[in-house]
Amino acid sequence: MRSKNKFIALTMVLVAIAMLATAAPSLARTTPPPSYKVVAWNDLGMHCACPTFAGFLLLPPFNTIRAQVFDASGRDPILVTSANASSLGLTIGYNMIDNSDALNQADPYFQQWITYSPKLFPGFQPVVNGKVMGIAGNGLSGTMAYDSNLLDWTAVGIPAYPLVQADTTKNVMTDPLGGPNRNPYPMTNVFVKNSAGTVLASTNTVTPVAFGGCCTCHLPLAGQNGYPTTPTGSFAYLGKMHGTNSSKIDFNYLDPTGDGASGPIRCSWCHWDPAMGESAAPGLDKVWPNYVIMPGATFTKANVVVSKYSFSDVVHRFHSQSTKVLTQFDANVATNCYDCHPGNNVNCYRGTHKAKTTIWCVDCHGNLNQRVAAGQMTQPWKASTLPTCTSASAGATPAFACHATSAVGGTTYPASPTLFGKFINGRGHKGSIKCQTCHGEAHAEAPSTMTLDNTQLSAMQGSTSYSFPAGKDKTYALGVCNYCHSGKTTTWGVPPHQ
Ligand code: HEC
Ligand code: HEC
Ligand code: HEC
Ligand code: HEC
Ligand code: HEC
Ligand code: HEC
Repeated sequence: MRSKNKFIALTMVLVAIAMLATAAPSLARTTPPPSYKVVAWNDLGMHCACPTFAGFLLLPPFNTIRAQVFDASGRDPILVTSANASSLGLTIGYNMIDNSDALNQADPYFQQWITYSPKLFPGFQPVVNGKVMGIAGNGLSGTMAYDSNLLDWTAVGIPAYPLVQADTTKNVMTDPLGGPNRNPYPMTNVFVKNSAGTVLASTNTVTPVAFGGCCTCHLPLAGQNGYPTTPTGSFAYLGKMHGTNSSKIDFNYLDPTGDGASGPIRCSWCHWDPAMGESAAPGLDKVWPNYVIMPGATFTKANVVVSKYSFSDVVHRFHSQSTKVLTQFDANVATNCYDCHPGNNVNCYRGTHKAKTTIWCVDCHGNLNQRVAAGQMTQPWKASTLPTCTSASAGATPAFACHATSAVGGTTYPASPTLFGKFINGRGHKGSIKCQTCHGEAHAEAPSTMTLDNTQLSAMQGSTSYSFPAGKDKTYALGVCNYCHSGKTTTWGVPPHQ
């Protein structure tokens, strides 16, 4: 009650000042011009794509960039939504820096995507008017759409790809096929423009994408079994092995389009994968009704059915339980997530938790045996099975204590998120600001152990008028109130999470 009275009194003083200002036009306090701020991030700390697409596809090139935009001219910033953006004539756009229509189309591996993707996604055109497209209809540059469920600007499924860069210092990913090293951390510029095309705010974010680790084992495995140590040889042996499991399907004998060539096949035609936007596996006969089983096959169309297991389930469970994997390749596959995520000398996991050297994937997610035992893969990619800041996944036994619920406060969470959980989709700070706006990408949380991840926050919090308590600096989570609230303190602190 008392504070409300104070507020009324203060308001009256302010009104009086405003009236004075009106009376003396030379002293008039004009409305400050809008001062826009944009913060952007990739929804995950790493996306995986394959070097070849002729045989099979696990996941397509598909990076999703998200951003929040504020009008920071007032003491309390205003979130720019689709409604106020259109009334202000603002466009939010993105442009990849280390990928381009010319560079991607010149890359021999990306050319395979261009060749084979229409067979993996019937009706899809990978290049439209010279522009490279992703399967959700976004290219390497374009405008972002407002997501009113998640309260951010989004470009879904950008076809980002790890390329060989002219600046060789960027090429830190080894190529499992023996080619030159590539850049798994391409950057993307995200900007706010007015109707005259003037850039009002802009930022750069890491758009991580790497080759998964499958080839490290599967090329030698093919060789051991008399197949060429090439992607084609590996695919042939993969199919042969798959033909010996209960499905009998040697997918090397599947010709989806009936063009006389085997493959390419997509695992998620038969193994349900929410990351492919599926709520159930469609089945090969629904995607390619006239598919052909090639001569020499030991199975028939009656065998070609969808699996009862999700894709995450078969790939994780099979490898963690195979005697051959455990005895000949990696006895610790259940804890060595980097065998696949992504391998090739790339760090998916590089955020602030990594600096605490005792924390590894298994502390938050559980090892593969725990993930299988807890049934996590029956609901893959879901809030129900992914970790949060305050609790590890079901089945995990962390070597450390997670954050106290009270330290984070209430997370606002959309009623029906499609993928992911309470960090990637969560919001704090009056329910308006995404956790990732202030903390950065999952697995690359600020301050990251990789300098490139820290460049965005360093640019935002780098003003010499900002000050930091001992032990903190501009690479820490966004905590300079003044960056968003003009008039509030220039000293870094922890914003209210609630
Ligand atoms: C640590 C080494 C290793 C890695 C990494 C690895 N695999 Fe395997 N994988 C194997 C071995 C060994 C086998 C054969 C197991 C057997 O014969 O019991 C196998 C078998 C398979 C099979 C045959 C399953 C069946 O039905 O019999 C498939 C499919 C497969 N792997 C896919 C993958 C994919 C996809 C990846 C990457 C995401 C991958 N593997 C990564 C070692 C590995
Ligand atoms: C045409 C459908 C189809 C395709 C395509 C397909 N699978 Fe399968 N897969 C099955 C069926 C059916 C089973 C048998 C398990 C079941 O009954 O659910 C199976 C079983 C498996 C198993 C063994 C699971 C276990 O419990 O032992 C692995 C591993 C596997 N698939 C991996 C893959 C991978 C990796 C790909 C893509 C490279 C793939 N599959 C593509 C239909 C398919
Ligand atoms: C044999 C290769 C392989 C290994 C080893 C592996 N993963 Fe995966 N993982 C994959 C693939 C492939 C996908 C993508 C599956 C999809 O598209 O649904 C995946 C997806 C996931 C997902 C998202 C889907 C889900 O189940 O919720 C999580 C979480 C995950 N992995 C955690 C781990 C952790 C933790 C480890 C180590 C303890 C690990 N993985 C080890 C291959 C592997
Ligand atoms: C400090 C805890 C922590 C550690 C360590 C950790 N993760 Fe995660 N992981 C998370 C959180 C939190 C999410 C996001 C959950 C959500 O959707 O909000 C996540 C999501 C994922 C996902 C699904 C979405 C995505 O980002 O791809 C995969 C796959 C995954 N983690 C794999 C791994 C692997 C592999 C490692 C180790 C190399 C690892 N994680 C280490 C906490 C952790
Ligand atoms: C407006 C910016 C902002 C938002 C939004 C935000 N945080 Fe924070 N958060 C911070 C800052 C700054 C810190 C202090 C970081 C440090 O000390 O390194 C912090 C600290 C934390 C901590 C550590 C707390 C402790 O002391 O144990 C956790 C956990 C955390 N945040 C989780 C979240 C989650 C989950 C969300 C989304 C629901 C979120 N934050 C949203 C800025 C934010
Ligand atoms: C990423 C930008 C950002 C940062 C950094 C930030 N805020 Fe905010 N804050 C906002 C936005 C946007 C709102 C308005 C939310 C709404 O209206 O839903 C807000 C609202 C608030 C409110 C509620 C205002 C009201 O009238 O109810 C308080 C209090 C607040 N912030 C305090 C802080 C403090 C203290 C800090 C620094 C320690 C801070 N904020 C840092 C963006 C930020």
